[in-house]
Amino acid sequence: MNVTSHMPTSIQADVNSTIVIFGASGDLTARKLMPALYMLWNDGFLPDDSPIVGAARREKTNDSFRNEMFAAVNRHSRSGPIDAAKWNRFASRLYYQKMDLTDSSDYHALKSALVQFEKQAVAESAATAVDHVVYLATAPSLFVPAASALSAAGMVPDRDSEHTLRVVFEKPFGRDLESSLELSDRLGHLMREDQIYRIDHYLGKETVQNILLFRFGNMIFEPLLNRNHVNSVQITVAESQGIESGRGGYYDNSGALRDVLQNHVLQLLCLIAMEPPAMFQADAIRDEKLKVLQALAPGAAGGIDNWVVSGQFAGYREIDRIPQDSRRETYVAMRVAIDNWRWAGVPFFLRTGKRMPHRVTEISVQFKQPPLNLFSTVECDGDMCELVGARPNTLIFRIQPHESIGLSCSTKRPGMQYQIHPVEMEFEYEEAFETVLPEAYERLLLDVMRGDSTLFTRSDELEAAWRFVTPVLQHWERKQDVPQSYLAGTWGPNQAEALLAKTAHAWRQPTGQD
Ligand code: BG6
Repeated sequence: MNVTSHMPTSIQADVNSTIVIFGASGDLTARKLMPALYMLWNDGFLPDDSPIVGAARREKTNDSFRNEMFAAVNRHSRSGPIDAAKWNRFASRLYYQKMDLTDSSDYHALKSALVQFEKQAVAESAATAVDHVVYLATAPSLFVPAASALSAAGMVPDRDSEHTLRVVFEKPFGRDLESSLELSDRLGHLMREDQIYRIDHYLGKETVQNILLFRFGNMIFEPLLNRNHVNSVQITVAESQGIESGRGGYYDNSGALRDVLQNHVLQLLCLIAMEPPAMFQADAIRDEKLKVLQALAPGAAGGIDNWVVSGQFAGYREIDRIPQDSRRETYVAMRVAIDNWRWAGVPFFLRTGKRMPHRVTEISVQFKQPPLNLFSTVECDGDMCELVGARPNTLIFRIQPHESIGLSCSTKRPGMQYQIHPVEMEFEYEEAFETVLPEAYERLLLDVMRGDSTLFTRSDELEAAWRFVTPVLQHWERKQDVPQSYLAGTWGPNQAEALLAKTAHAWRQPTGQD
């Protein structure tokens, strides 16, 4: 596909927030948050002086925190090795605050420290930082204690205050419907919904945001995306890696359904299936996503095992901190339906798994066959030859790697006969825009600072997602079955193939390269 690229001029943000990271000694801060903040500053989205405060239990000085962050950003930033002089300009607004997040008296000290840091920033510029962003890069068990201590320290401003507070929560946000409702309820007593930002990093990916633009910014595709033209939709979030070191404890308590399908996969499903919003505005978009989640239904009658398959890769139980008899799934696939006017009768096949052949995330929309096979061609597999007609058109949103949108079509094979031949039209991000895509956390952090919650999950969306997946979790718990084993480097258990074969469909086998 030929694309003329017009790069937008960069939008200079007028954000001036103080950012406080709870859990500043952790992996997320080093690998994602600090590199993202550095890139935002480097690209002109963050002012020079707004304070960034790392808070954690360990003893550290500002200098040792700055040095640690330098090493982390150098290692993980998408810009590659960073210039020391540039870093020093950025780092002069990095501070460290030692605190015990469970001890409410430490929050009073934090509050006074923030006043000091902000005074210093104001002395250096004309701006007054009154926006506070608190990022909870912590274990979920600290969500409520931290929120209640912030509230007790008077750090949660009222709606009419000139100050704002936005608190970012990482997943997991509950582990089933009941615990998620309880968490929402407890937080709801401590802060308002507009102060709560539940992050799903998939929504920060450039190509995920492009799904909406592609669907609702073009006239030619949207009229086709419905039950009249679409045969089926597949969403794949496949990872080639297993369980990263140190994550065994978390993962075995979670599993593929909670870890990826309940959030990332269902969010992708919402974006591909939702109706056009009346406005491009946070609540208008989230209202439409919610309707998709509310219309979600099992894709087959007769019990959960008829539409859900789970698997565990061979060797999972040998991993550190995974019990020898673990029944935790590292793969899940399901056939679901969206019972609404647009999608009734169209199967949606969802799958995610660890230790798959490639790291690849894609949505593929397979259209119906042309009504009549006017053309065909001879295709041979060894000695076996058959006459093949038109292949169904497929529209593929490749989220990662090699971000692209592809459309498969049929064309005439050159020659003296009418022979049909499948071809691909493809738009590739990096080729078209000649740019390195920003990291998801860059976009999401900037949106928190701007107070734009479009790309964050609202509590009712979260509830609807948990409402759908919780019966599956409960069913597995009741059955006490061990998920079917699959070999590392394969596309999951055999039952997953059988799940689609029942309806004469087959999983795509995307390569990491397409
Ligand atoms: C995280 C999960 O939310 O997403 C991880 O906890 C998973 O287990 C990761 O590896 C995948 O994200 P990405 O951006 O690498 O596809």
